[in-house]
Amino acid sequence: MSAVILDGKAIAASIRQEIKQEIESKGIKCGLAVVLVGEDEASKVYVKNKIKACSDVGIKSYAYYLQKTAEEDELLQLIDALNNDSNIHGILVQLPLPSHINEKKIISAINPQKDVDGFCAENMGKLFLGETDVLAPCTPSGIIEILKRSNIEISGKHAVIVGRSNIVGKPAAFMMLRENATVTIAHSKTKDLKSITSLADILIVAVGKQELIDASMVKKGAVVIDVGIHRTEQGLKGDVKFGEVSKIASAITPVPGGVGPMTIAMLLQNTLKAAKALMEKQ
Ligand code: GUN
Repeated sequence: MSAVILDGKAIAASIRQEIKQEIESKGIKCGLAVVLVGEDEASKVYVKNKIKACSDVGIKSYAYYLQKTAEEDELLQLIDALNNDSNIHGILVQLPLPSHINEKKIISAINPQKDVDGFCAENMGKLFLGETDVLAPCTPSGIIEILKRSNIEISGKHAVIVGRSNIVGKPAAFMMLRENATVTIAHSKTKDLKSITSLADILIVAVGKQELIDASMVKKGAVVIDVGIHRTEQGLKGDVKFGEVSKIASAITPVPGGVGPMTIAMLLQNTLKAAKALMEKQ
């Protein structure tokens, strides 16, 4: 048996097309502020890709590049200005931030209605409460969208999530619960990880350890979602040993071209959602 490859790149392209059409047909004005502090190479690439994706669908992007020595206060003042700017509907501060800046303080300074990353306590809290009208974090939203658009049933399935980060693992768990999955969260302190992962009907791996998951850890016929991304001399690798696991799984996301492109598509979707909600209030 060989798994169906879940083509995140193609699914993301159709979502972007839908967003573009809605923006054009309704004449929606939509602005996203993207803030990068410092010179982290991976972050620079992510920010560049986000800005390009905005222009492709008709979202106006406003980029702010701050030096890595920028004071926390300078960033807080910028966020305050963006919160009060009616041309800006979404604010994204690229993480990680330099260590002298308090990430939590920065995230909580963003107006929750403009928090297109879905990282602030209000949006996370809504997710915890199972609310659907919420700006939810982009990577887990992308995972749910891949599953739904690939007609993979979630309700009643056992979803095992490896990783408990605030950006992916934790929100993914609550979003899968909202879709009526039975959810287990495993993490770096989990004992006998294999005994847990091999129970999964849907295995979501977001742990940041290159090729941690091998075929012996996956149930035959499981759906495997790989959130990992690691640059190696052989190209990009995920948290899953794609070659051997794709022989066991019924469906699997590749790296690259799986979850990655979905994250950006969901950012655009959140920005459009935020713009529509803010316009209704005006
Ligand atoms: N760093 C890694 N992933 C993300 C993300 O989704 N949003 C932001 N703001 N920073 C990140």
